[in-house]
Amino acid sequence: MRLTVIGTGYLGATHAACMAELGHEVLGVDADPEKVAALGAGRVPFHEPGLPELIARHTASGRLRFTSSFAEAGAFGEVHFVCVGTPQRADSGAADLSQVDAAFAALAAHAAPDALLVGKSTVPVGTAERLARTYDAEIAWNPEFLREGFAVQDTLRPDRLVFGVASPRAEAVLRAVYAPVLAAGTPLVTADFPTTELVKTAANAFLATKISFINAMAEVCEAAGGDVRTLAEALGHDDRIGPEFLRAGLGFGGGCLPKDIRAFAHRAGELGVPLRLLREVDAINMRRRDRVVELAREQCGGAVLGARITVLGAAFKPGLDDIRDSPALAVAARLRLEGADVTVYDPQAADNARKAFPLLGYAGTVEDALRGADLVLHLTEWPQFREIDPERAATLVARPRIVDGRGGLDADRWTAAGWRFRAPGRPVPAGEGQ
Ligand code: UDX
Repeated sequence: MRLTVIGTGYLGATHAACMAELGHEVLGVDADPEKVAALGAGRVPFHEPGLPELIARHTASGRLRFTSSFAEAGAFGEVHFVCVGTPQRADSGAADLSQVDAAFAALAAHAAPDALLVGKSTVPVGTAERLARTYDAEIAWNPEFLREGFAVQDTLRPDRLVFGVASPRAEAVLRAVYAPVLAAGTPLVTADFPTTELVKTAANAFLATKISFINAMAEVCEAAGGDVRTLAEALGHDDRIGPEFLRAGLGFGGGCLPKDIRAFAHRAGELGVPLRLLREVDAINMRRRDRVVELAREQCGGAVLGARITVLGAAFKPGLDDIRDSPALAVAARLRLEGADVTVYDPQAADNARKAFPLLGYAGTVEDALRGADLVLHLTEWPQFREIDPERAATLVARPRIVDGRGGLDADRWTAAGWRFRAPGRPVPAGEGQ
């Protein structure tokens, strides 16, 4: 089939490449001619495992092209996927739908009369119905649940497909687009527009709630002298709870969960449903950053002014160069504001971090970052940070003091090597004084 993908950011670039991989002819459309040129030459402007190879393969085969012309897209496509961003509005936390509205307006003007316009962007419930009322064209919704770092595999082998459709024809078209994925046994849920939009927001809200739940337990553990890591392990053995998304620590960041729960709470409020639960999920999450800053102050004897602090990690999660709403950088910036001399090390996200936070220092290696530090903070759980030898590290720093903001380090090992080890939600290790 001939498909277009409007918007070639994270979601759109991945979707376009994966649709080409499924065997379709794909035209990616983006208003930014630089992005179009880069992608057309097989260059991906962000780090996502497997995606550059997929884009290079299909641009070379001619099955995947890019353009900035809606007229060309309209003439080409039988099905148009809208993958533009829905950023958070600074005033209210609501989703900014200007890019979605502009994409549908342009498609309505240029698409063939029988083309199907499919929204993939995460939108407030009610958007698809409003667009369907506004335009003559047939509209469907097909949310995306991909995780950064696993975008290609999540798109080609998703946990489920969800089609929001208003006619048997729309469902048949989407079934044809995803035929190989469905043939592999992927569960399909078809629903009306509001339910489909809610599946996406409810899924993200549930994941965020799970993380904030375990972080709330971390607060209680600290007050009661318990250990949240052991608690989470024991909870996770219950099949009804499961072990995923129970890692307590610095909380969630990134381009989706924080903004999506705020937009959902805002939209639910508009509909007369208070959803105070999500306000609390957000508040617990933000308190984790305060707590790590507090632990840093405690480790420095009350204030960080003048302290040399090493921050391990800048990306919002390991495996990526993405620093959107990164809890690690939020903490680093706060400590800098309080007068600390902060040096950040991240294996992939340092360039992006440097552009956004030019007042922080950056080191090229873990060893350089550790040298002379008064305090080390572990704020993104890159696997290589677990490999650091605490004994060797102790010889590099000025003072062996560490806060494990992600809960992934072996407290006993670090303590045995002479470090004063602190982690939110975990007791002070045995054998160590306050
Ligand atoms: C998320 C959803 O998982 C995905 O389904 C949706 O489509 C987009 O949003 P992503 O933002 O890529 O994906 O990251 P995810 O792996 O969900 O992690 C989000 C944040 O939560 C990260 O900052 C991570 O460090 C944090 N996290 C995750 C925890 O703090 N504890 C956990 O147990 C799990």
